[in-house]
Amino acid sequence: MEKLSSNAPTPLRIIQFTDTHFFKNEDGRLLGVDTGRSFNEVFRVARESRGTPDLYLFTGDLSQDETEESYRRLSTAVGASGAPCYVLPGNHDRRSELRQGLSDGPADFRFDRFIVFDPWLIVLLDTLVVDEVGGHLPLAELEMLEECLKAYPNHHALVCMHHHPLPVGADWLDTIGIDNGQDLFSTIDKFPSVRGVLWGHIHQEFQSHRNGVCLLATPSTCVQFKPNSSNFAVDALPPGFRWLELGADGLIHTGVCRALDVSTGLELSSAGY
Ligand SMILES: [Fe+2]
Ligand SMILES: [Fe+2]
Repeated sequence: MEKLSSNAPTPLRIIQFTDTHFFKNEDGRLLGVDTGRSFNEVFRVARESRGTPDLYLFTGDLSQDETEESYRRLSTAVGASGAPCYVLPGNHDRRSELRQGLSDGPADFRFDRFIVFDPWLIVLLDTLVVDEVGGHLPLAELEMLEECLKAYPNHHALVCMHHHPLPVGADWLDTIGIDNGQDLFSTIDKFPSVRGVLWGHIHQEFQSHRNGVCLLATPSTCVQFKPNSSNFAVDALPPGFRWLELGADGLIHTGVCRALDVSTGLELSSAGY
């Protein structure tokens, strides 16, 4: 756990990058897209439009080929960003390679499972099931979440993970979310301090509410998937990121920005990846 200083009531400023899908080699492409180049452009837009946040969140699928080198390439792309970078794994990641590759690189990647930044608590959950596309929340993760929420009852809480914990309206994606999302919400429902749930994996913007809790997902920094599609379908929307401002009053101000000028070589007619 990390405890950071705060100048309350200044909001806690977060930039979320998700599903960067880096390769070990520069010529690696995902559905025709140079994922490193796409991330560089999204990162540039983030710095120019939002400045340096208090922290960056990377919510999984950082690698596409699960190699230490791919994580080192990501760390090199981030470089000395001026803010700590917190990570959690997605289905395309491998825990050991992620930790080793990001530890070796120049960026300030950190592996804390929860962060306290008064008056906010951010919990990072691990939904990765090795060799599976879909996600699961083991009992240990649910217990860790509950212990954190019990330990900081007066902090507003943001709960982050890779996979989506509830259906998002796309049949093919809704078979590869968290298979026990109801267990997550059973825990969250016990703690009114939870203000938001944030994830990646679905490669599209999503915003909803449940029992007063803000539900958010974010476009990938490379390839996008079409919302509300029965089958796998690539979307032509540009790559992007999410900014969040967590207010001292518990309110979440947030939005998605996209890198409009990136020319990706995207293969729109792909039937899968
Ligand atoms: Fe992904
Ligand atoms: Fe994923």
